[in-house]
Amino acid sequence: MGIVFILSFFFLMISILPSYGYDPLDPHANITITWDLMLENGATYDVKVSLYNFQLFRHVDRPGWKLSWTWISDEAIWDVWGAEATEQGNCSRFKGGVLPHCCEKQPVIVDLMPGAPYNKQFNNCCKGGVLTSMTQDQTMYGAAFRMNVNKATIKNTGNNFIMPLNFNLGVLGYTCGDPFQVPPTKFKADGSRRSTQALQTWNVTCIYSQFQASLTPKCCVSLSSFYNSTIIPCPQCSCNCEGLGGTKCVKSDKTPPLLELPHANDEEPQPLVRCSNHMCPIKVHWHVKESYREYWRVKITITNLNFVKNYSQWNLVVLHPNLRNVTQVFSFNYLPLNPYGSINDTGMFWGIKYYNDMLLQSGPSGNVQTEMLLNKDPSIFTFREGWSFPRKISFNGDECVMPPPDEYPRLPNSGHSVTEKPCLIFFSLFLLIVLVL
Ligand SMILES: *[C@@H]1O[C@H](CO)[C@@H](O)[C@H](O)[C@H]1NC(C)=O
Ligand SMILES: *[C@@H]1O[C@H](CO)[C@@H](O)[C@H](O)[C@H]1NC(C)=O
Ligand SMILES: *[C@@H]1O[C@H](CO)[C@@H](O)[C@H](O)[C@H]1NC(C)=O
Ligand SMILES: *[C@@H]1O[C@H](CO)[C@@H](O)[C@H](O)[C@H]1NC(C)=O
Ligand SMILES: *[C@@H]1O[C@H](CO)[C@@H](O)[C@H](O)[C@H]1NC(C)=O
Ligand SMILES: *[C@@H]1O[C@H](CO)[C@@H](O)[C@H](O)[C@H]1NC(C)=O
Ligand SMILES: *[C@@H]1O[C@H](CO)[C@@H](O)[C@H](O)[C@H]1NC(C)=O
Repeated sequence: MGIVFILSFFFLMISILPSYGYDPLDPHANITITWDLMLENGATYDVKVSLYNFQLFRHVDRPGWKLSWTWISDEAIWDVWGAEATEQGNCSRFKGGVLPHCCEKQPVIVDLMPGAPYNKQFNNCCKGGVLTSMTQDQTMYGAAFRMNVNKATIKNTGNNFIMPLNFNLGVLGYTCGDPFQVPPTKFKADGSRRSTQALQTWNVTCIYSQFQASLTPKCCVSLSSFYNSTIIPCPQCSCNCEGLGGTKCVKSDKTPPLLELPHANDEEPQPLVRCSNHMCPIKVHWHVKESYREYWRVKITITNLNFVKNYSQWNLVVLHPNLRNVTQVFSFNYLPLNPYGSINDTGMFWGIKYYNDMLLQSGPSGNVQTEMLLNKDPSIFTFREGWSFPRKISFNGDECVMPPPDEYPRLPNSGHSVTEKPCLIFFSLFLLIVLVL
């Protein structure tokens, strides 16, 4: 009995403690790279490499993935379909009159752009490196390419296939693990009546961590309501402080300088934002708009304050206890996310294709908005204590900075401060005691 108790306590602790890169809203989030050895042919072999974005609400935006790995020996890539190596490298050891596509020890492979020459294409290729989240577009969350590789010459083993190492997705924030061999992938043939399979299949799992991507937030939240005229702005310096050494921004009465647009494979440019107290490229505004007898209405506006980026395939994840009673969402797509089954307090919003799935650069059209109707559930609903405001918001998977709860717009004459004060006094006393000790 005792051991069982201790063990279950131990597992409980493990499941509560956050592990590396772990997101409780999407506990299995990963990008998987699958390496299918398709055929061996004397001195060369063919591989099909696939990338799958198994994340509910994080996507790979322009400039896209740049997959790299380290060959164990002196392999070289003769040819690639559906992607290309950024550098050919030093191929001087090949004397046959034809040079390989890439002889780098650490090749960097990028996707082809849409509309690539037909003879260079491959199934599911050519999306400029963009992978949408699994939720948003079932046709765009994967990518694949095929390559023909010159086998390594290793004395003891002869000419063999050896799995390369050190995979890297080339996208900020992701770390990939070591390849591990899995059961061979099966491919449907003859209208699914027959299946063929790879000779060997290896998986590599890559995981995202916001802390690895950037320490500074990229988004903040402001709040307002129909029952109180105060607008609670984003917290001061949420993302940066105006005027702090080296920060650049565009004053509200100025137009931004003419900027050179980034080229397809360039790194993402540093944000250039509209000057504000928070300096965030993205601001989310939550407005409690109206109260009806059985429903209440919320308006959400996402504003792009960045002059150098259009956010394609953006998404917003919101945590609010009343989301379990969402009745209608206007002009956005909505999907409840509930990894733990019973609790429906989290949902994901994203744009409607060709209508508002692109959040344009800062300016008059640089915003998207929705309204939603929520059913008042008498057991939980209240306008008091800031209950009608979100608990947590993230934009494109990165958490937004929220105003502190004690600043939320208050109902006129609410008992708010009365209930809060004893708690504060108690806390200060506690602090004092700790300090004295
Ligand atoms: C390997 O990745 C594929 C997707 O690419 C997935 O279907 C399969 O389940 C993975 N295998 C393991 C053992 O994780
Ligand atoms: C990656 O995500 C998929 C889909 O959620 C999941 O089935 C798979 O187990 C995950 N892989 C790992 C190694 O967590
Ligand atoms: C290219 O590789 C060969 C050996 O394969 C080496 O002798 C030569 O120095 C290399 N050239 C450069 C410019 O690195
Ligand atoms: C954003 O999209 C608009 C309209 O398609 C385009 O005119 C603009 O140059 C784009 N801006 C950036 C930074 O890519
Ligand atoms: C609650 O979650 C279930 C299961 O995911 C879903 O079918 C249902 O639509 C959700 N309800 C609301 C109001 O989001
Ligand atoms: C709100 O959702 C909960 C859980 O799904 C349900 O039990 C409750 O009846 C709903 N309330 C209203 C007013 O629809
Ligand atoms: C509106 O909310 C603010 C911030 O919580 C509060 O200071 C103010 O007293 C409220 N206004 C009214 C009329 O209650």
